[in-house]
Amino acid sequence: MTINPVFTGATPLNPVAPEQQFRDDVLVGLAAAQKFIPAKYFYDEIGSDLFESITVQPEYYPTRTEIGILDASGPDIAALLPARANLVEFGSGSTVKVRRLLTHLSDLAAYVPVDVSESFLRSEAETLSGDFPHLSILPVAADFTRPFTLPEGLSDGAVAGFFPGSTIGNFEPPQAVHLLAHFGRVLGRDATLIVGVDLVKDKAVLDAAYDDAAGVTAGFNLNLLARINRELGADFDTSAFAHRAFFATDASRIEMHLVSLRAQDVVVAGRRFSFAEGETIHTENSYKYTIERFRDLADQAGWNAAKTWTDAEQLFSVHALTRR
Ligand code: SAH
Ligand code: AVI
Repeated sequence: MTINPVFTGATPLNPVAPEQQFRDDVLVGLAAAQKFIPAKYFYDEIGSDLFESITVQPEYYPTRTEIGILDASGPDIAALLPARANLVEFGSGSTVKVRRLLTHLSDLAAYVPVDVSESFLRSEAETLSGDFPHLSILPVAADFTRPFTLPEGLSDGAVAGFFPGSTIGNFEPPQAVHLLAHFGRVLGRDATLIVGVDLVKDKAVLDAAYDDAAGVTAGFNLNLLARINRELGADFDTSAFAHRAFFATDASRIEMHLVSLRAQDVVVAGRRFSFAEGETIHTENSYKYTIERFRDLADQAGWNAAKTWTDAEQLFSVHALTRR
């Protein structure tokens, strides 16, 4: 079955087309004193595939741990959602996690996966539709940080949100508060939001999770430069940059960078940028929370923490939030 996502690229709500936004954001980021590129640009089709490979690396504990928590808490989560609810997943990626929930949500009316990675979104929605033929699947290709409307075809039932994977950690805490408040507005009154949040832990475990021995995370990071070459006509020599990732304990975040291995100039969309040897492009933060710190963040965004589940080792947490 062919499913075409509702595409909310350039609309009256978002007048700048995604390609233009990508170019503008990269040019702004490379002109900054500490060069940076927003992490959402990792996810072209190749980046989405590389992320899936990261999730099965032995060092990358978050995915398998969260799946274990969802399997154990599935009946509890199902009990929290009203009958004939609609479920919106923000940053749906592969549908591995929602599949675990769907086995417990037999009366779900519609599932709305939202993702910037459009072709990946389409193929995942098509596969899911084959596996759950009675579920209405309404994908939306959109940047979930920007204003967007839910698609037509939802039931009259309540709308619930699902935001797994600790994607919330990829936002600065003040932006994370804004994002959770924005999700509240998108989902509407009486909404429930299920959020996966990675927990603070030993630095060595965190460092390894973001620098796996097989080099998959390094490839994911470097694909960003290859994507800029492909889509913005740039001339990055990807062999002249290296992956660096480390847990910055004081900030409680993983930082990922691309390090310039020599002094070099790069041309991007007709503009020249100079790199000193050792200079970095900051490509991602992944904040790690305690349960209390995350609940405080949710509280600031207008959500009450109804319930929290963790694994036995307290590596990862899943929170059910209800809107005040
Ligand atoms: N939910 C999945 C995937 C997490 S990876 C899981 O838990 O495994 C993060 C996903 O969010 C990717 O699929 C990426 O394409 C998407 N994403 C990242 N930033 C986004 C944004 N601003 N808007 C929409 N999707 C985004
Ligand atoms: C999607 N996001 C939550 C992942 C993370 O763990 O921050 C992205 C990632 N970056 C490197 N490895 C995984």
